[in-house]
Amino acid sequence: MNNLILIGMMGSGKSTVGKEIGAKLGWKHLDTDKMIEDMQGMTIREIFDRYSESHFRSLEAKLVEQLKSVDSTVISTGGGIILNPLNTMALREMGLIVYLKASPDTLNANLEGHTKSRPLLDCQSIDVIYRVRDPLYMNSAELVIDIDLISNQEMIDVILNRLER
Ligand code: S3P
Repeated sequence: MNNLILIGMMGSGKSTVGKEIGAKLGWKHLDTDKMIEDMQGMTIREIFDRYSESHFRSLEAKLVEQLKSVDSTVISTGGGIILNPLNTMALREMGLIVYLKASPDTLNANLEGHTKSRPLLDCQSIDVIYRVRDPLYMNSAELVIDIDLISNQEMIDVILNRLER
C-alpha cells in the first residue's frame, strides 16, 4: 500500500512535517495521538492519568489495526508506537516508515514549553527514553533522516524524493 509513516521521539516534528507532506502530495494526513484523543474525548494526559499507560498502548494498538486499510495517507505516529512489535509489523505492511532521528539536545530544545501534554516526561528524561527507543526506531524504519542539522523543508524534500523513486 502507498502510505508514509513517520516515527520518532516526542519533539521530532512528526505532526508538523506529516501535515505538510500530506498537503504537498494531496494525500490525507492522520495523527494517531489526535485520533485517539478524538475517539476517547480525552487528552492523552487524561487517558494516562485516569487509566494508565498500558490502557493508552492498547488503544494505540487497536487504532493501528483499524488503519491497516488506508491508502495514500501520511500517518504521524505517537513516539511509543514501535514499542509494540505488532504495530511495527502492521505499519511496515502499510507503507514507507521514516524515522525522524534527532539528538536528545534537539528534542529537549523542541519540547521546551510543550512537556505538559507528554505524561511520560513527568518521570523520565528524554535522554533515557532515547537510549531505549533509538535502536527500535532504527530497526523499524526503511529511511532514517538525521534532522539535527536540517530544516523542516529539507526534511520534506528528502522524503518526497524518496517517495518519487
Ligand atoms: C509518547 C509520545 C506521545 C504520545 C504519548 C506517548 C511516547 O506522542 O503518544 O504521550 O511514548 O513517546 P508524540 O510523539 O506525538 O509526542
